[in-house]
Amino acid sequence: DWTMAAYKAEAIARIQAQVGTGRVICGLSGGVDSSVAAVLIHEAIGDQLTCVYVDHGLMRQGESEQVVGLFRDHYNIPLVHVDASDLFLGALDGVSDPEQKRKTIGRLFIEVFDEEAGKLGGADFLAQGTLYPDVIESVSVSGGPSMTIKSHHNVGGLPERMKMQLVEPLRELFKDEVRALGRELGLPESFIGRHPFPGPGLAIRIPGAVTREKADTLRKADAIYLDEIRKAGLYDEIWQAFSVLLPVNTVGVMGDVRTYEAVLALRAVTSVDGMTADYYPFTHDFLGRVATRIINEVKGVSRVVYDVTSKPPGTIEWE
Ligand code: XMP
Repeated sequence: DWTMAAYKAEAIARIQAQVGTGRVICGLSGGVDSSVAAVLIHEAIGDQLTCVYVDHGLMRQGESEQVVGLFRDHYNIPLVHVDASDLFLGALDGVSDPEQKRKTIGRLFIEVFDEEAGKLGGADFLAQGTLYPDVIESVSVSGGPSMTIKSHHNVGGLPERMKMQLVEPLRELFKDEVRALGRELGLPESFIGRHPFPGPGLAIRIPGAVTREKADTLRKADAIYLDEIRKAGLYDEIWQAFSVLLPVNTVGVMGDVRTYEAVLALRAVTSVDGMTADYYPFTHDFLGRVATRIINEVKGVSRVVYDVTSKPPGTIEWE
């Protein structure tokens, strides 16, 4: 007789047994996984938990405000909000290889996190929203000849000297189960239903070198795309929808002026677990509307294309 309510009670008891009177820090990404983990742990041990939210300057529009608003203001969970955008964007300057971007961001995350943990006087436990698919993917990566497709930074990687034990209350769950647990914990539907967002954020949606200006352009375009998806009532049907700012300029005309600006690719897929995915069949009418709005409202974009690749053979992200 397995229900989410029972699972929640059991998970809380397990956290209490593991942590005792210890101090826990939890990295919040704004995603469903770390949010659910944080609220669950907070229910279990209250203010023995402190959350750390690192803004690398590569978040979506409004994301930081939403995360801080939910955790600090709504849940009253102790939360440190670190604006590290200069550090991350500085380190990414001139880096165009996708794996190098991930490694750079992963390394800095750990550095910033380590520093913040130090400021908090240390902690005994590190909480992570690791899911079952993350566990299998990282095992198959380290466990033999199988290829590393993409290095995800959210599993492991902390310095030896930090010596924190991991608290990973979602390790046995798939995404849909995490969402059910989040509902059980009373997280707002707007958080539960959020599309997944990769740890490296917009850095892997800007092929080539990342700049603050490109990130700002992409953020604006992406917000319009998501706004139209919500207005059309399609958000919940889609696993993930996002924009990619291509390092390609094309010629256009605006009024009677020739333009030469970037191409923006729109991506949207349906999926059950992110392992395989189909591109979403928007109507031409919808795509046309989004393209018109983006080109009219976002400086720096003069052409919009739609990605019709499924996974496999494509991955969901472009990098
Ligand atoms: P791909 O592109 O591999 O993506 O088909 C599958 C799912 O994983 C997300 N993704 C990442 N998440 N760090 C993350 O935390 C990463 O480096 C990363 N790369 C891809 C992707 O957004 C999709 O949900």
